[in-house]
Amino acid sequence: MTTEPPMTTTLTPDTTIDGVATLPPTEVDQPPAAESEVPEQEREVVFRLSEVEVFYGAARAVTGVDLDIARNEITAFIGPSGCGKTTVIRSLNRMHDLTPGARVMGTITYHGENLYSGKVDPAEVRRRIGMVFQKPNPFPKSIYDNIAYGPRINGTRKRSQLDDIVEHALTRAALWGEVKDKLKSSALGLSGGQAQRLCIARALAVDPDVLLMDEPCSALDPIATARIEDLMHELKDNLTIVIVTHNMQQAARVSDRTAFYTAEPDEEGRRVGKLVEYDVTETIFTKPGDPRTEGYITGRFG
Ligand SMILES: Nc1ncnc2c1ncn2[C@@H]1O[C@H](COP(=O)(O)OP(=O)(O)OP(=O)(O)O)[C@@H](O)[C@H]1O
Ligand SMILES: [Mg+2]
Repeated sequence: MTTEPPMTTTLTPDTTIDGVATLPPTEVDQPPAAESEVPEQEREVVFRLSEVEVFYGAARAVTGVDLDIARNEITAFIGPSGCGKTTVIRSLNRMHDLTPGARVMGTITYHGENLYSGKVDPAEVRRRIGMVFQKPNPFPKSIYDNIAYGPRINGTRKRSQLDDIVEHALTRAALWGEVKDKLKSSALGLSGGQAQRLCIARALAVDPDVLLMDEPCSALDPIATARIEDLMHELKDNLTIVIVTHNMQQAARVSDRTAFYTAEPDEEGRRVGKLVEYDVTETIFTKPGDPRTEGYITGRFG
């Protein structure tokens, strides 16, 4: 059975405020789809990338990216350093708008709408599509104020409402128990793993639709890493997650689908990243279709 999802609302003039189109609502009002049991035709596409390439100035960083990212799935981006994983993940919430000289070519749709349309408000995009970076970056504020930051910007002022949001976000990020008695303490006093969960909670506090995670565990010990992986599993019932990771086991453990990128010299000898293969994670790791994927996942990448 295919139910029309609530997020594919077409942008119309009615949804335009001062010439800036608002994106469709994020509310999830249907049960999440079970992982990998979802037949191909029932996957709800959140992002569709068609012939995407990204330039930094005149240099083409990555090319040939065609893939669909589905709702309630965890999609992993893997591949050697410099192949464009960060470049592609940053294109999904228009982070490149903030990088002088960066240009995203091709088409990226988000719930069927052109993400790069002039009518779409990039600030709203980045609220809906949250990002967690490799290095946890708590603000030099209290734990409470870190989490309340986004909701306050969005206009939530009432203390009791903020209290609820803070507790809920920290609970979802599996950090509440560890910090509930020191919400007024500086977030800079947290351990690396706690700080990363704080950053995840901060992203969750504005109720995003998508969470982009660029190597979120690379600075963490195995225990903190396991906690974040458990957390990703819990979150994906309500969210769509894209993760960049250098940890092959992590990609195999957490993701439903995996995209393998590599970098190869173009006609002029400049290395350009490209998407080699994108498939169900099990397929990528057990019977990849491309010898370059196999070489990488078996550690024979040269
Ligand atoms: N801000 C930038 N300005 C210019 N070139 C950039 C910029 N960011 C990335 N690049 C180039 O784009 C290419 C892809 O880089 P990217 O950071 O996306 O790779 P990556 O796959 O994330 O690598 P890593 O695994 O090391 O993080 C590289 O050649 C890199 O030098
Ligand atoms: Mg990177």
